[in-house]
Amino acid sequence: MSARPKNSSVLVAEPLSETGLAILSQAGLSFDVKAGISREELLSIIPGYGGLVVRSATKVNRELLAAGTNLRVVGRAGVGLDNVDVKAATELGVLVVNAPSGNVVSAAEHSIAMLLALLRRVPQAHVSLKAGEWKRTQFVGTELQGKTVGLVGLGQVGSRVAARLRPWQVSLLAYDPYIPPEKAAELGINLVSLDELFSRADIISLHTPSTAETARLVNEARVAQMKEGVYLVNCARGTLIDDTALFAGLDSGKIAGAALDVFVEEPPKDFALISHPKVICTPHLGASTVEAQDRVAVETVEMLVEALSGSPFVAAVNLPFPAGGDPHTALPWMRLAGAAGELASQLLKEAPVKVEVSLSGVPPGVQKACTVAAVRGVLTPRCAEAVNLVNAPTIARQRGLSISEIVEGGPEGFANLVTVTLSSASSRRSVSGTLFSERHCRIVAVDGLPMEFTPEGNLIFIENRDVPGVVGRIGTKLGELGINIADFALARSSESRAAAVVKIDRPETGLDEDALTASLLGLPGILAARIVTLS
Ligand code: NAD
Ligand code: MLT
Repeated sequence: MSARPKNSSVLVAEPLSETGLAILSQAGLSFDVKAGISREELLSIIPGYGGLVVRSATKVNRELLAAGTNLRVVGRAGVGLDNVDVKAATELGVLVVNAPSGNVVSAAEHSIAMLLALLRRVPQAHVSLKAGEWKRTQFVGTELQGKTVGLVGLGQVGSRVAARLRPWQVSLLAYDPYIPPEKAAELGINLVSLDELFSRADIISLHTPSTAETARLVNEARVAQMKEGVYLVNCARGTLIDDTALFAGLDSGKIAGAALDVFVEEPPKDFALISHPKVICTPHLGASTVEAQDRVAVETVEMLVEALSGSPFVAAVNLPFPAGGDPHTALPWMRLAGAAGELASQLLKEAPVKVEVSLSGVPPGVQKACTVAAVRGVLTPRCAEAVNLVNAPTIARQRGLSISEIVEGGPEGFANLVTVTLSSASSRRSVSGTLFSERHCRIVAVDGLPMEFTPEGNLIFIENRDVPGVVGRIGTKLGELGINIADFALARSSESRAAAVVKIDRPETGLDEDALTASLLGLPGILAARIVTLS
């Protein structure tokens, strides 16, 4: 799916379960496991790989993605993508896949474990007893039953935490502006505002991704809103908390305790907050169970393998069309749309400013994929950089090419029709094609002129006066030049004009396209000749 050289070696840059590695082996992919690799070494060896697997420690930023000149897919074995620059990956045409659900049960269970340990001061009592002390009165805890628990974020982890807390006879509140109220109702949860959650909850547990909107969600103002003696749990991301505000809240007694699995900087350099007596903590262990590590490895590696095999239908986070479709259904349509786009692009002399993809009789599930394939087709002959299905819409936008998709009713005369119309400031070319079967696609019109040919290989588009002898002269000239004709399609555009598409075999000695065009234009009756090569 990428115009980059097809390198399928995989670099596993962080620990990955044996089950995941076995899938790479079974797929016949060569791979290197280099957990703990230094940044310098990573940057220097990354050009040798087509796939990269990371967890949360490796910063897959623009620098690394750009250094990975053969990189086609990054697999993030986990949920959070805060260590992957997805925007840069998209611009560079690198697919990003993650494991959105493999570790959510473990993360939810860890959140509960931390919450209970926090309320009952289990870590502090454990350390004290191991030190030879017996201080029963020092570790009096708090019951969970009857408390109001506020969950910030009610996605995969948050909703599982809610389901697991329900039998503990707590009141559940949640804030999540992106989920439908019905989902909260199903979980028996009241959706409330963030203000209400912070002012009513006895225990607050964070479960949102790290985004600009959630950065320092727990800050000085929010701490001020909290009830006296509130407990805070964060097994989501360190960036959700302003550490200074948390520290002050713990010191003042407003916050009775905090359970932290995640930190702004990992591993942390500053241990002041971690060392606070009211803080219990784990080193980002939410997903660290045998089961979760197996699941995320399998989920990630299976998608990585599929992506490296060229399938554009993996559930990638940066694919510009819905993922998960049936590739057997979609690929023939995408091939047709791509070929129509590539042909139109090579027929248009000037830079295109607008691409219009009109689709009739195309199944709804593949329409968007067809449009992206057409745009990639349009850009491929015109871009020095690698264009693929991931970055085609971004490159189009960067080049000021507007894209429109028109879904029309059943076409006349065909079961289906895909037309790509490309306009520059002063001209316009259009190519229409149809799919007869999964394997048989045909171009059926160029600039509205009916003509039928298979879109592949080297084609010469000729416009000529509709007078006797032209076809013969073309054949003779190509014969003189040692060029074999593989196919010849003719069409009459008006009373006096005609057009032809000649499919030729590329001579082993190569094809001097300028010389061939000049020879054809020198023939009587030939008005225009253009050589088009489909990739
Ligand atoms: P998710 O995408 O399924 O759920 C996140 C929820 O947060 C969504 O429902 C979303 O609507 C909501 N949300 C987004 N912005 C919000 C905002 N401003 N305010 C309130 N809600 C908001 O993700 P998930 O799988 O449930 O993961 C939740 C968090 O847990 C993520 O940060 C993830 O990285 C982290 N996580 C940590 C571990 C670990 O090892 N500690 C393991 C798994 C997940
Ligand atoms: C995740 O985002 O999946 C978790 O934080 C676990 C991890 O990073 O390994």
